[in-house]
Parts: sequence; C-alpha cells; structure tokens
Amino acid sequence: MDELLKLIYGVFICVLFAVVYLLYPQKSNEDNRNINYGKCGTVSYSIKHKSNVEGNPELGKTIFKNNCTQCHAKNMKSDLTGPPLENSIKRWKNDTIKFGKYLNNSDEYLEEFKDKRILEMKANYRFTANSHKYEFTADEVNSLLFYIEGIAAY
Ligand code: HEC
Repeated sequence: MDELLKLIYGVFICVLFAVVYLLYPQKSNEDNRNINYGKCGTVSYSIKHKSNVEGNPELGKTIFKNNCTQCHAKNMKSDLTGPPLENSIKRWKNDTIKFGKYLNNSDEYLEEFKDKRILEMKANYRFTANSHKYEFTADEVNSLLFYIEGIAAY
C-alpha cells in the first residue's frame, strides 16, 4: 500500500511540473513580436523592442506588393534596384513623419532635409529619377513600416 501511495505521489508531482511548465510563458530571444488574434481571424502583431509603430500588416502587405516590389526585394534582405528594407524603422529612428515625407516625394524630401545618408544611397544606387512619389496617409505609412519589420524578423 505504501508503495502505491508513493507511486501516486510521484505521478502527481510529475503532472504538476508538466502543468506549470506548459502554463509558464515561454520567452525566446528570437520572438520579439506580440501576436494577437483579433476578430474574424485577422492577425495583428506589434514588434516589441524595435519600435512602437503600430499598423495593419495586411494593409502594409498589399501596399508593398502593389508599389514596392518592382524595386525592393520581397524578403527585405536582398539588393535590387533599391536597397533591402529590413531595419528601415531603426534607420529612420522611428520617425514615421519624415519617412512618410520621403515616400510621398523623395526629391522634395531631399531638398528640404538634405539627408546625407539618403543622398549617398541615391548616388550608390545610381537612381537619378525621383525614387518615390506616392500619396500615402500616415496610417498607410505606419502599416508599410510595420509590414517591412514583420517580414524582416522572420
Ligand atoms: C522605381 C524604383 C523604386 C520603387 C518602386 C520604390 N523604391 Fe524605395 N528606393 C529606391 C531607390 C533607388 C532607393 C535608394 C535611394 C534613392 O534613390 O532615393 C530607395 C530607397 C528606399 C528607402 C531608404 C532605405 C533606407 O535605408 O532607409 C526606403 C525606406 C524605401 N526605398 C522604401 C520604399 C517603399 C516602402 C516603396 C513602396 C511604397 C518603395 N521604396 C518603392 C527605388 C524604389
């Protein structure tokens, strides 16, 4: 009888450990996103640590596919007519307003801000024409950035 009690006690302890392990929130260095499953199965995720930009990744994806893939790599890491876009948020120091101005009219942006980094990049990529001239809203710009970072994080 004693043996049986010990066995039951042992099993109970094991199950307890398993439950605690499963319930304990697991953290990994890789996964710095916080994924929320919203209504109707839409997924929104925010990228913690990197920025506090919030946007709609689905909208960002559509805009990116329709406007950017002609010159920028879809994996955000390879070089094409334009540079890889991963870490854009960092390079723009989370300044979504400036980033929006650059996207909505690059020549005007360069004229106004004399951004040395972009001017050098423009020379390196030998792209003399106005590289970006869109009419994105602030929401669309955020969603684009959000999507770019989301893809680059994979
Ligand atoms: C016609 C080609 C072309 C298209 C289309 C294009 N880009 Fe670019 N992009 C470039 C080139 C070339 C550069 C290099 C700098 C320059 O010439 O302004 C660049 C640079 C950039 C940079 C600066 C990278 C950095 O280090 O900060 C960002 C961000 C960017 N593009 C985002 C976009 C997004 C988002 C879209 C779509 C909405 C887009 N681009 C569409 C050609 C393009």
